Amino acid sequence: MRYILGVLAIAAVAAGIGLYWVSRAAPLPATPPAPIPNSILNQLPEERKGQVLIYGAYGFTGKGISELAAEYNIIPVLAGRNESKLKPLADSLGYNYIVLPLENNHDNLVKVLKHFEIVLHIAGPYTYTAKPMLDAVVEAGTHYVDLTGENHVIQAELDRDEEFKRANIMVMPAVGYDVVPTDCLNVYVAEKISQPTQLTVVLDGNYTAAEGAQASRGTMKSGLEMLGRPLLKRKGGAMVAMDTPKLIHRNENGREQTLLQIPWADMITSYVSTGIPNIEVFQVQEGQLPAWLLRVAQSGAGRRALGWLIDNFAPEGPSLNAQENRQTRIVSTVSNQIGATASAALITPEPYLLTFHSTLIIARRVIDGQWEPGFQTVGAVYGPDLVMEIPGVSRSDL
Ligand SMILES: NC(=O)c1ccc[n+]([C@@H]2O[C@H](COP(=O)([O-])OP(=O)(O)OC[C@H]3O[C@@H](n4cnc5c(N)ncnc54)[C@H](OP(=O)(O)O)[C@@H]3O)[C@@H](O)[C@H]2O)c1
Repeated sequence: MRYILGVLAIAAVAAGIGLYWVSRAAPLPATPPAPIPNSILNQLPEERKGQVLIYGAYGFTGKGISELAAEYNIIPVLAGRNESKLKPLADSLGYNYIVLPLENNHDNLVKVLKHFEIVLHIAGPYTYTAKPMLDAVVEAGTHYVDLTGENHVIQAELDRDEEFKRANIMVMPAVGYDVVPTDCLNVYVAEKISQPTQLTVVLDGNYTAAEGAQASRGTMKSGLEMLGRPLLKRKGGAMVAMDTPKLIHRNENGREQTLLQIPWADMITSYVSTGIPNIEVFQVQEGQLPAWLLRVAQSGAGRRALGWLIDNFAPEGPSLNAQENRQTRIVSTVSNQIGATASAALITPEPYLLTFHSTLIIARRVIDGQWEPGFQTVGAVYGPDLVMEIPGVSRSDL
């Protein structure tokens, strides 16, 4: 008995030390990395016009975008912080690459970005990765798009609008599944009635379910950053905190469904695109987050420990089968104070596949000269029909 207790005590101490180790905040490099030698900078494009840098190229989504780039006549340079992951991908696609940490590396980032017209920033969670890249694009004069769905990051980008305008660059967040289809659909329905005051969006992620459908590790870790922050919604033009998300029970075509209110980025981006002062987003609920997960995600150390588990045990992202077969459905409804309403639906392909295409479609637009300075949203700059360019998307009025 004493022996078993001893083993259990040692195991508990070892688990405690392990947990402490993985949940420590990673220290910033004490000194900035050495300046990138001119011999490496000289290998970058001499003339920035039309040149695209994909940062975070070897992550699940960065890889999907890098592999598809040629289809949009884009020959990118690939970037990221880890050469052992970056080089094999660049070599397999025949693209140039550059190793470029984000932290404490402002001068090198600026030097590199000056060779590019646009950076596709695909490294997240953006809570940690957005600011160093944004600081650098402002100085380098490089357009920027990202895939963040983290509301606090999008708000921080919106708050820098004037700075981006002065730098004469476009900063467009959330050019993936979150929020290209919703923002385009929201603009589409908002144009159907005068002075809409309420926008409601419902996402059905498993309209056509498929085996292997799941989030990537980066998406799960970005989700943790949202769980650790107050839940907000757009009400009367302001972002206000909710105590608990709203639940709606309904019968949809003979199927009982529960809709769960979620903090989708539309609350900021579609407010910019449409000016509608009240925005709520729901998803068809598929199971429930355990209460312990919400509690653990409240602390930085808890999020880091969960992030470590995700990095080491979660699958990389959705299977090929899911990418080929899964479909989602989005319904947006607007109404105004005199009782007019309009509603439309969008069927989309699998969210990551959609993201690979939407990011490149927007990159192509930018290098073709279609961009506006400052903080911008997809629906406002490119209009409701941009989403229809993505293979597999269809729209119908309801
Ligand atoms: N809005 C959307 O619809 C949508 C769709 C897809 C993805 N996303 C977002 O895009 C991001 C990437 O997703 P993913 O699927 O590619 O995830 P992933 O497979 O986990 O890849 C994450 C990438 O980010 C890099 N990274 C993370 N922290 C970094 C840092 N501090 N400095 C430099 N690089 C860093 C990683 O490099 P290391 O391996 O070296 O850490 C890796 O290249 C996530 O935030 C995700 O939420 C959004």
